[in-house]
Amino acid sequence: MINRPLALITGGSAGIGLELARLMARDHYDLIITGASDRVHAAAAELEQEGVVVTPVQSDLSTKEGVDVVVAAVKHTGRPLDVLVLNAGIAIGGAFLDIELQRHLQLLDLNIGSTVRLCHALLPGMVENGGGKVLFVSSLSATTPIPYESVYGPSKAFMTSFGHGLREELRGTGVQFTLLHPGATATEFHARAGMGNTSFGDNSWKNDPAQVALQGYEALQAGVTSLVGGDEATQAAGREHKILAEEEKAKTPCANG
Ligand SMILES: NC(=O)c1ccc[n+]([C@@H]2O[C@H](COP(=O)([O-])OP(=O)(O)OC[C@H]3O[C@@H](n4cnc5c(N)ncnc54)[C@H](OP(=O)(O)O)[C@@H]3O)[C@@H](O)[C@H]2O)c1
Repeated sequence: MINRPLALITGGSAGIGLELARLMARDHYDLIITGASDRVHAAAAELEQEGVVVTPVQSDLSTKEGVDVVVAAVKHTGRPLDVLVLNAGIAIGGAFLDIELQRHLQLLDLNIGSTVRLCHALLPGMVENGGGKVLFVSSLSATTPIPYESVYGPSKAFMTSFGHGLREELRGTGVQFTLLHPGATATEFHARAGMGNTSFGDNSWKNDPAQVALQGYEALQAGVTSLVGGDEATQAAGREHKILAEEEKAKTPCANG
């Protein structure tokens, strides 16, 4: 009989997701971690050093089939999910019209589609089990328009709004939602977004992913509903985004991720 709690972390093979997985493994969670590439297996092997069971799942979450594989892995445990972390996501940098439509749609399929599919498939089990904790890794970009990253921010705005809505729908079920909004964070994220030759190519000025993950994890455990992840300058940007007009924010270069 296993009495450790179980968590699913999408995108747990790298960056903020891997840092969250490290924190949870140290706190004796068994984990299902997902990633797009085969390095998810190496990440699982590292995490198992903490004495927990870690199941790696390699799948493309921008597809229905890829989501189905992850859902099947959760069901295969025969155990309820105590924590659901939806973290896998991508951005694309560049002029909207210069980027192939298919790439924009893939971003939406991953950042929005997998969020909706995984919640629809996995939240019923958490409700049935009397509750659980959900962490959405959204972005500070959810709170401002960003020219040249013009599809990414709205995809994260969806995630944030969706989470706030679900929290109310599921009030009384024991399922809680924490929405983490990191500012620019030093992972592979911007390089993957094709922004390596912009100021985002330099990771030295960005937030530490371990710090951002710790902020999100502590907020999740404390039942905080929504927070900005990052240093004081990032927190200040989050406060400013609440008061400035969208038109003004769109004109201001910003340091979001
Ligand atoms: N870094 C930032 O500045 C920043 C700021 C705000 C918000 N965020 C958000 O934080 C989350 C994590 O970002 P990160 O910075 O940690 O990025 P990252 O280092 O690039 O890691 C992304 C993770 O998502 C996985 N992934 C990518 N595409 C996938 C796909 N199609 N299907 C399944 N998994 C996929 C990756 O797997 P592989 O490694 O195997 O490819 C990896 O585990 C994202 O949702 C991002 O929007 C990041």
